[in-house]
Amino acid sequence: LFAGESLFVKGVVAMSGLPDADRMEVCFAGRSNVGKSSLINALTGTKGLARASNTPGRTQEINFFTQGPELYLVDLPGYGYANAPLAVVEKWQKLLKRYLSGRQTLRRAFVLIDSRHGVKDVDEEIMSLLDSSAVTFQCVMTKADKVKLKDRERVIEQVRTALARHPAAYPEIVLTSSEKGDGIATLRSIICGLE
Ligand code: GTP
Ligand code: MG
Repeated sequence: LFAGESLFVKGVVAMSGLPDADRMEVCFAGRSNVGKSSLINALTGTKGLARASNTPGRTQEINFFTQGPELYLVDLPGYGYANAPLAVVEKWQKLLKRYLSGRQTLRRAFVLIDSRHGVKDVDEEIMSLLDSSAVTFQCVMTKADKVKLKDRERVIEQVRTALARHPAAYPEIVLTSSEKGDGIATLRSIICGLE
């Protein structure tokens, strides 16, 4: 699955813009700046494919990337960005809801959690939305290179407790660093296993 090349397909702002549901798809959700775009770049081994930046809330569209001919990787807009106008937040929540509940080929959502911060209220909201959309999701801890082992374990425990409250949660937590490459091969093989 990860042998072929990766390309940016399109940024989608409305349901009518979605590409044909003709292949397996996984999506990446998480707070602004958690590292969604960086993770997609690491998974595909393509620097600069998804635009990573220090400005939170940069990715406002649902961005579709191909990985080879048989897989879409979907970069969802970051949430929990305090400065986003309410109208914008409401518009994308509506689009997100419709995407999550209506996308037949969506096999799994990955909810990214910063290894330093753990699960926040906005993450709980997304997890509840995934529960109600019946989309199985799995937590990916990001920026593992930024925390000490001891702190990391405390955060993982907090994530584990949060996951237990969500029926759509898959229990295995994946620890990653897009910077160092940790956990990237594991995540690739999880995605390959969804086929
Ligand atoms: P939005 O599109 O705004 O929602 O952000 P995002 O979730 O796509 O985050 P992005 O990938 O743009 O990364 C945000 C910042 O975190 C960038 O400065 C990245 O370089 C940095 N970053 C991402 N992953 C890692 C990581 O594994 N380790 C470290 N140290 N920094 C990371
Ligand atoms: Mg992004």
